[in-house]
Amino acid sequence: MAEEGFAEGTEGGDAKADIWSNWDQFSGGMEKFQQVSAELVSAAEVGTLEALRPAVGEMGKTCKGCHDNFRED
Ligand code: HEC
Repeated sequence: MAEEGFAEGTEGGDAKADIWSNWDQFSGGMEKFQQVSAELVSAAEVGTLEALRPAVGEMGKTCKGCHDNFRED
């Protein structure tokens, strides 16, 4: 779904033009994000804080990693 949001012709907003010139890196970030999301779902199914904590940390890093590279501000 997120990849569709950045399809050709959607340039603008706070998204850097680098997204489209570094598409492989950006879509790699999307894939990583999907993988981390799946891990977070599994951790939520375990239902303990110990299981959730590292998965939430990974998720946070994934958001920030992509925003640092591809989002203005
Ligand atoms: C693969 C790259 C990528 C990942 C991963 C990512 N984001 Fe973003 N995000 C962006 C980009 C690029 C924008 C700027 C889009 C725009 O304004 O056009 C953005 C914008 C946002 C905004 C502002 C939306 C708005 O309408 O102003 C929020 C909030 C946000 N992201 C939250 C998150 C959270 C929370 C996560 C992790 C759970 C996340 N993002 C993961 C790339 C990413």
